[in-house]
Amino acid sequence: MPSMPKINPTTTKAWQALQLHFEEIKETHLLNLFANDPNRATDFSIEWNDFFVDISKNRINSKTRELLLQLASEVQLEQAISAQFEGETINETENRAVLHTALRDFSNRKPEVVQALEKMKHFSNDIIQGNWKGHTGKPIKTVVNVGIGGSHLGPSMVCDALSHYKTHLEVRFISNIDGDHVSGILNSLDPETTLFIIVSKSFSTQETRTNADTIKKWFLSTADEAAIKQHFVAVSANLEEVQNFGISESHIFPMWDWVGGRFSLWSAVGLSICCAVGYDHFEELLKGAHEMDQHFQSAPFSENIPVALALISVWYNNFFRCETEAVIPYAEALHKLVPYLQQAVMESNGKCVDRNGEAVHYQTGNIVWGATGTNAQHAFFQLLHQGTKLVPTDFICFAEPLQKTGDHHAKLVANCLAQTEALMEGKANTKEPFRHFEGNKPSTTLLIKKLCPKNLGSLLALYEHKLFVQGVVWNIYSYDQWGVELGKQVAGTTLKAIQEENGTLLKNSSTLLIFKKL
Ligand code: F6P
Repeated sequence: MPSMPKINPTTTKAWQALQLHFEEIKETHLLNLFANDPNRATDFSIEWNDFFVDISKNRINSKTRELLLQLASEVQLEQAISAQFEGETINETENRAVLHTALRDFSNRKPEVVQALEKMKHFSNDIIQGNWKGHTGKPIKTVVNVGIGGSHLGPSMVCDALSHYKTHLEVRFISNIDGDHVSGILNSLDPETTLFIIVSKSFSTQETRTNADTIKKWFLSTADEAAIKQHFVAVSANLEEVQNFGISESHIFPMWDWVGGRFSLWSAVGLSICCAVGYDHFEELLKGAHEMDQHFQSAPFSENIPVALALISVWYNNFFRCETEAVIPYAEALHKLVPYLQQAVMESNGKCVDRNGEAVHYQTGNIVWGATGTNAQHAFFQLLHQGTKLVPTDFICFAEPLQKTGDHHAKLVANCLAQTEALMEGKANTKEPFRHFEGNKPSTTLLIKKLCPKNLGSLLALYEHKLFVQGVVWNIYSYDQWGVELGKQVAGTTLKAIQEENGTLLKNSSTLLIFKKL
């Protein structure tokens, strides 16, 4: 049985060689790399399904690639990938397997997954076709997903990303505990035609519980308890708590401990997606992700997209010491991709203790940020072009638009390609320093045929695997998130102090002073 290797990357031969190699290459301009290698554009690109991934505009050469691949081999990446897919307990600090990939594995289906998908299919079809009626006999018009973190970001991002495929249902999201936001949404809803999906793996998350209680109270102000069954369903692993809340077992969709919250959109957490775009499109999304899973497992590392992107990211993070990387999708429908990736990447790899329980002495999880192009060009691209920080950037663009609208798509794509070129090439201006562009700013371009459910599934799975590979290299546990617990505990005491108006509960003088100003 393969297990997770526990190798400190800095002790590998490759790491040391990469350090020496970095000294040789760190000042080399990308223009020189292109000048020295006429085949660079072809050699440093990967074509797979509807994806063309151009990595040639990165500050790497064949030696960098060779050493990064050696690093992958020395940290036993292959073994780590097998351990994950074979369901080993690779999330050791929580004693769990990590099998979100099984949710989309159509070649080897887990019976409980098949059953859950069937239930999701019937449920969403009933809602969409108007067979599921509210308590006054009216069909459902609005579906509200109530959840936070992984129980919100994935579904909300996908619903927007696939808005082109949407059904007649309006799908909305409540995540924040901010009462002003919740009441604002409730005021716009008709309780007779609204269905709430309460999504919480633990069913103990303060935000979701509070929001669910408030919503239930609002609903019961115009309906009887008996009506709850027509307007509330839940997605959770905690059956008991959901039932205590008032939702019966038949209205609960399952979650399992082998699916982490931030990787759960492929599970019943994606129920709002099924309602928003129809079950068939959801299944396409799963299939696209599964194809990427197969590519990740089987492609040689030199042609493996998630592995290539992860190793390049390690190169910038640990050798160029870049603190951040940007993601710029040239598709407004992907405007929630970055917040989604922020949870996926930063909750996974924001760790400072390695798999041996030792403090790490190298950088781990990078900061992910970004926004859609072309909007971002008119906001923060100045810093990318002329700032003092090096920000490796992923440009995501689609060859075909979803609908033809004049020459918009040509202009959108032109902007995307032009930015990567301008960042890389720069433009010398010795007379006017403020107009000088040094260039040599790295980027990766992901050109995808079309923003369809299948390609979106592949894209999201690509980023999931990328972050896993990075975690393997950094020798950290990517699948736990203990760092979110302390703030929750402290908030418990702070809430008590506020509700009881008792400042003596607060030990921190600065917090106490703010408390007194409330
Ligand atoms: O606090 C972080 C977290 O545990 C995330 O990992 C998770 O996605 C989110 O909270 C929501 O958790 P739950 O689905 O249990 O409500």
